[in-house]
Amino acid sequence: MRIIATGATGQVGRELVALGAEPLTRRELDLTGGSRDTVMTAARRLFDGADAVIHTAAFTAVDAAEDPSNAAEVTAVNAVAPGLLARAAREVGARFLHVSTDYVFSGRPAGDRPWRVDDPVRPVNVYGATKEQGERGVLDAGGTVVRTSWVWSGPAAPGKDFVTTMAELAGRGVDPQVVDDQTGRPTYAPDLAAGLWDLVRRPDAATPGILNYTNSGEPVTWCGLARAVFAGLGHDPERVRPCTTAEYPTPAPRPEWSVLDLAPWTAAVGRPPEWRDALARGLRW
Ligand SMILES: NC(=O)c1ccc[n+]([C@@H]2O[C@H](COP(=O)([O-])OP(=O)(O)OC[C@H]3O[C@@H](n4cnc5c(N)ncnc54)[C@H](OP(=O)(O)O)[C@@H]3O)[C@@H](O)[C@H]2O)c1
Repeated sequence: MRIIATGATGQVGRELVALGAEPLTRRELDLTGGSRDTVMTAARRLFDGADAVIHTAAFTAVDAAEDPSNAAEVTAVNAVAPGLLARAAREVGARFLHVSTDYVFSGRPAGDRPWRVDDPVRPVNVYGATKEQGERGVLDAGGTVVRTSWVWSGPAAPGKDFVTTMAELAGRGVDPQVVDDQTGRPTYAPDLAAGLWDLVRRPDAATPGILNYTNSGEPVTWCGLARAVFAGLGHDPERVRPCTTAEYPTPAPRPEWSVLDLAPWTAAVGRPPEWRDALARGLRW
């Protein structure tokens, strides 16, 4: 199968390329580069002959997305491009998988259950709202949406993520304060890529609609995750001090409950690995 990954320089895209996906970067397909027609025409040409496209490219800087000077770019990349690319893929007969986010939700469902794929969305920031618009475009074009949360790659990969930052602070002797009132499940980028890779190659599983993929296991707060990183690397987890979201304000409000229901994915593809197991692999302890 010929499978194309957009966002090939990003956390998830890089891992898809390592599995054998054909890389598409901003250089070949700039999602802010010109009109809708220009993007569609370029996508049709680039997707021609592919069996599937996994779309990971996005404007992911959640706080920068709140800045009005970035509005045009965030909208073009997150809200408009996914639907255009999904339509281009459909026109050339390629399956389309789109990666989306827990940020389409806010608040908490009754009983603290995981968010189901058909729960009503309610984004609380620009990033979440534009990603939600992107989802609708993809679904209208018959694509599949895979929501994920708290993606990390670890110190061996380029760039910074939460786990890498905590591992560095632990090693440097810094005792961080970390929010303890936002709960979710982390997702190791290589595991997500492997899951998407499995899904896209199953003709029965990559059907139109929404699925969730995160690592499995007990939901955890950011503070709990930081403590797990410290403990796993042999440092005292109590060095990580809990704080509230109110004590650590960010330009973009964050969802307090990012736990996504893994039942549909588990039934279709299999249970994702546990996040503690992923942490041990990603940090090599
Ligand atoms: N990271 C998370 O915690 C998280 C959580 C939930 C969902 N997600 C979703 O998961 C997907 C993958 O996330 P990630 O963490 O792998 O993202 P990432 O590491 O930030 O990479 C984003 C990718 O998008 C590309 N991109 C951005 N603007 C572009 C444009 N105008 N034209 C073409 N390419 C552009 C970037 O290219 P450059 O390198 O050229 O900038 C990069 O390759 C995204 O859809 C994201 O919304 C992420």
